[in-house]
Amino acid sequence: MAGNRTFTMIKPDAVESGNIGNIIQMITDAGFELKAMKYTRLTEDQAKEFYAVHKERPFYQELVDYMISGPIVAAVLEKENAVADFRTLIGATDPAEAEEGTVRKKYAESKAKNAVHGSDSDENAKIESDFHFGADEIVD
Ligand code: CMP
Repeated sequence: MAGNRTFTMIKPDAVESGNIGNIIQMITDAGFELKAMKYTRLTEDQAKEFYAVHKERPFYQELVDYMISGPIVAAVLEKENAVADFRTLIGATDPAEAEEGTVRKKYAESKAKNAVHGSDSDENAKIESDFHFGADEIVD
């Protein structure tokens, strides 16, 4: 059965361009409920750990540098079929390939500066949520 929670970050480009409110509005309009949310800034160690799965990729250091370049918003979201539905809402990694009306089509600058993160599996949603939030910070 598909899980009902996913994890997202509004990334530094979208925070910098003043789109936190617009993106949260799109998320809640699509039926996701906020379970936890924080405005924060990642340390280099946190960004490296969060993206450790990409550490052999050529863009790893660029990704880490970008993710620590400014504040982010981290959030846990709940909805039936959350992981897949959220990935549909945000669109393809590269905004040039994202469908019209998706978050990345509207607000992302590029494949690297792509406005939002969305977990790619139920397992990673749990790992990523736990990375950013303690159990007492998730509101049931
Ligand atoms: P996301 O899917 O949230 O997590 C992995 C991130 O790596 C991805 O978003 C992009 O921000 C980044 N990324 C993926 N491909 C590239 C690329 N070719 N060049 C730079 N960054 C990338």
